Formats: sequence, structure tokens, C-alpha cells
Amino acid sequence: MRFPLSTVEGRFGPVLLEGFALRTRAGAVRAYLNVCPHRAQPVDLGDGRLFLPSGELECSAHGARFDPASGECLGGPCDGRGLTRLAVEEREGALWMPAAPI
Ligand code: FES
Repeated sequence: MRFPLSTVEGRFGPVLLEGFALRTRAGAVRAYLNVCPHRAQPVDLGDGRLFLPSGELECSAHGARFDPASGECLGGPCDGRGLTRLAVEEREGALWMPAAPI
């Protein structure tokens, strides 16, 4: 699930920052900034697909792979840099995020 966070001033004008949330195979909820540490492209750029059959997250741009539970880089051009994790909690079936500066 992708969601808007805030708008920041980019090189060519305003840029909407987005996050995405997922449920791990163990049932935990996680949320990350939708920005790949490789070249700052959205992780789900293109067809919106995030998961490989192995269960790892894959950046659509150049194939960096991440652990869905921790956001750690597992291989590819992320070169050891992980996703930026966002605080999220699940209450009564809804996801809640504290207001946090990005
Ligand atoms: S921008 Fe994600 S792998 Fe290059």
C-alpha cells in the first residue's frame, strides 16, 4: 500500500514524497520511504510490483533487493544501504503513523 507523506522542493520543482506499507510473512506491519537508496527512484516505479517470488523486496529501477522486515539491502546496486524505515503501528485493523518530519 502506497501513501503520500509530504511535498519537498526538488531540483525541478515540488516533489511528493511517498511511503509504502507491507505485511511481512511473519505478520508484522512495516512502512518505508518509497525512495531507493541507489538513485532515489521510487522502489515500486513502473508496475507497482514490490515482491520477488522469494519474498524479498526488489526495486523496479535497477534490481536492488531488500529485506521486507528490516529494509536492509540484500544485494544489487543498493550497495549496503537500506530503505528508510517509517514508524507505523496497527490498531484495530488500521495503520497509524505518528507525525514525523521527513
Ligand atoms: S534506483 Fe533502485 S536499484 Fe537503482
